[in-house]
Amino acid sequence: MTGPLPSPVALAALLQARETVLPKRLGAPGPDAAQLQALLAAAGHAPDHGRLLPWRFVLVPQKARAALGEAFARALLERDAQATPEQQAQAREKAARAPVLLLAVVREGGDPAEIDARERTASAGCALQNLLLAATAQGFGSALTSGKALQSHALRTLFGLAADERALCFVSVGTVLSRKPARGRPRPAQYTGILVPGQGVQPWTD
Ligand SMILES: Cc1cc2nc3c(=O)[nH]c(=O)nc-3n(C[C@H](O)[C@H](O)[C@H](O)COP(=O)(O)O)c2cc1C
Repeated sequence: MTGPLPSPVALAALLQARETVLPKRLGAPGPDAAQLQALLAAAGHAPDHGRLLPWRFVLVPQKARAALGEAFARALLERDAQATPEQQAQAREKAARAPVLLLAVVREGGDPAEIDARERTASAGCALQNLLLAATAQGFGSALTSGKALQSHALRTLFGLAADERALCFVSVGTVLSRKPARGRPRPAQYTGILVPGQGVQPWTD
C-alpha cells in the first residue's frame, strides 16, 4: 500500500459511479500512456488462486483497428455466409469505436487442473472490475462488450489465441460523449441468503 486507503464513503461513491457506457458513446481523449499503465496495474491487483496469472489483455491501437474490423466482418461471414456488404460494413465499423480498446483473454486450461476454468474466469472478472473502477476514478467512461465474434476463427487467428485460451470480452475506455439514465441496482436481499442450520438457506432482509 502506498497511500491512505479511501474511506468507505469514497469507495462507495466510486463503485456507484461505475456504469457501462457503450463504445459508441465513448470518444477522445482516452487515457494517456501513464493513465493506461495505471489501469493495467489496477488489473494486476486481482485475486488469482495459485498466482497462475490466467488472464491477459491485448491493446488494440488505432493502427490495428482496420485489421480488427476485418476480423469482425469475417466472423460475421463465418456465422452467416449470406451477410450483406452493408452488414459486413457495420461489423467492421464496431472496431473503430472508443479511443482505448483492449481484448481480455483468459487461459482456461493447463496445470493445475483443480484451479479450473471457472476460477480462472473469476480472477479475470476481478481484474476487469479493477480496471473499470480505475478508469472511473480517472474520469473516463468504460464498457465490457462480448458477442459471437469473440469465439470466431477470424478473431482467434488475429489475436493468436492458444487452444486453451478464450477471448472473454473487449474493454473500451474513453471520454463519455453521452450517457443513458442511471439504471437501478439490485438490493442485497435479491442476491443474498443466510445459512441457518436445519432450515437451509433463509432470506436476507435489507
Ligand atoms: C463479460 C461481459 C460482457 C458484456 N458484453 C456486453 C455486450 O456485448 N453488450 C452490452 O451492451 N453490454 C455488455 N456487457 C455489459 C452489461 O450489459 C452491463 O454491465 C449490465 O447491463 C449492467 O450495467 P452496468 O455495467 O451499467 O452496471 C457485458 C458485461 C460483461 C460482464
